Amino acid sequence: MGGGGRRLVPAAFVVAALVLVVAAVFVSSAEAETAAASLRGGGPFDSIFAFGDSFTDTGNNPVVFGWYDIFDVVMRPPYGMTFFGGLPTGRNCNGRLVIDFIAQGLGLPLVPPYLSHKGSFRQGANFAVGSATGLNSSFFHIGDAPGANPFPLNISLEVQLGWFEELKPSLCETDQECKDFFGRSLFFVGEFGINDYQYSFGKKSMQEIRAFVPDLIQTISKGAEARAL
Ligand SMILES: *[C@@H]1O[C@H](CO)[C@@H](O)[C@H](O)[C@H]1NC(C)=O
Ligand SMILES: *[C@@H]1O[C@H](CO)[C@@H](O)[C@H](O)[C@H]1NC(C)=O
Repeated sequence: MGGGGRRLVPAAFVVAALVLVVAAVFVSSAEAETAAASLRGGGPFDSIFAFGDSFTDTGNNPVVFGWYDIFDVVMRPPYGMTFFGGLPTGRNCNGRLVIDFIAQGLGLPLVPPYLSHKGSFRQGANFAVGSATGLNSSFFHIGDAPGANPFPLNISLEVQLGWFEELKPSLCETDQECKDFFGRSLFFVGEFGINDYQYSFGKKSMQEIRAFVPDLIQTISKGAEARAL
């Protein structure tokens, strides 16, 4: 992503996200409470950019499933019943996801889904899509006959990073502007990987599955370290 020699999105941002998850879960720890409280008032981040699968998708999958003409079960109850007034939002959940709690903990709006949100993305964008893979979808379709099962859909980490690249010019123009803007953004990468395995069981041998594990891990690691600037 981006030009060589420019700044990396610090891996610490990803670590920070994980720490926040821990903080949200173990609120009984006084330290975590202090940390969470200090984040709520004038926190360190002005925006959140998220990538992943159904664990993080806040509403992109209905759009993508629409492209492929696939019925989307999450668009009916009980999805959305616990927090969103009974209205399905496209989340694979009846309430909020970890990314929602993180956004709220940081005093930011729930991260808007890139493919369906009509407003501004200045406070963040969510590129995660339920059913997404880490590896290219084409990797799983090798040898498929025409009309074969469309899963995994073409919404891998690489495609999501492509959408981010597409959005970037609307957020900042010069290198300095982008550095300032993304310097105050939280990048949240994951979860990725479950679907890569899920789509492979029954289609590939255990030996073939084991063989792509290093590639998958490398793809996710590289994605998490992709250059935002
Ligand atoms: C994934 O697909 C993209 C094009 O969409 C291509 O540039 C890239 O090399 C592919 N990666 C792998 C590992 O096949
Ligand atoms: C997958 O999507 C990317 C980005 O939209 C596109 O460039 C690529 O051609 C697509 N690949 C397939 C196999 O449809």
